[in-house]
Amino acid sequence: MDRNADAPWSKFDPEVYVDNNYRTPLEADLHIVRLLRDYFSRCFAGSAPALARGVDVGAGANLYPALSMLPWCEKVLLLEYAPPNIEYLKRQTAPGGLGTEWDAFWDVLTEAPAYRDVDPHSRVGEIVRVERANLFDLDGRRRWDIGTMFFVADSMSECPEEFQRGVRCFMEALADGAPFAVAFMKESVGYRVGEHRYPAYRVNEERARQALEPFTAELELHDLHHVVRPGHEGMILALGRRKEEIAAP
Ligand SMILES: C[S@@+](CC[C@H](N)C(=O)[O-])C[C@H]1O[C@@H](n2cnc3c(N)ncnc32)[C@H](O)[C@@H]1O
Repeated sequence: MDRNADAPWSKFDPEVYVDNNYRTPLEADLHIVRLLRDYFSRCFAGSAPALARGVDVGAGANLYPALSMLPWCEKVLLLEYAPPNIEYLKRQTAPGGLGTEWDAFWDVLTEAPAYRDVDPHSRVGEIVRVERANLFDLDGRRRWDIGTMFFVADSMSECPEEFQRGVRCFMEALADGAPFAVAFMKESVGYRVGEHRYPAYRVNEERARQALEPFTAELELHDLHHVVRPGHEGMILALGRRKEEIAAP
């Protein structure tokens, strides 16, 4: 069974990954972006703008989770493990570096009022930062007010314990009540990026719910039936809020 440490993360090719997944926006992702936009808009309705600290874990070569958090954040941190992806993210978040391939996702976001006054090409350079981190090292010492984790806990290992641990580490990095979005490929048997193969754990709606529910105060699961390549059966999007932790007496 392939574990996280066995996969060739240092060979992950972000340009090939973007070509495969995001350069031509897929209906599945645009649908997810609409759901994200509406959920975060509901969560932050009436709250002061731009005060939250956001995190996207395992950001890889995907900027749309970070874009979805922009209106509410004073800072967004992209945590990533693979060195080539870190370099990609640093280029995208340098002043003026955000690629036009992300415009189609931004256009969907601006259908909600909160996004309309934000210029992503300047705001990303101002407030988004990149840091190398291993998901498994998140232990609750640093916690964020809003968080996203897209296709990471399910797409990093074949091992059920590592999936559970990945979800737990992400949830423990969220402050009490923090809104979050997590996406999994459904029933994925693994995926290729260029010449290299990466492992996956077969997540279905029940496994997603079991992993997330202990940490959540509010949870909605969207079972999306879009199949974007052979070797999976759709996508699962989880939207919710982190449960408050009861302080020890
Ligand atoms: C399928 S990609 C998803 C990337 C991106 N979030 C997206 O939505 O397309 C899986 C990502 O998990 C990252 N990853 C793998 N192991 C990790 C770990 N232990 N800690 C943090 N990120 C990890 C990979 O480098 C890669 O960027």
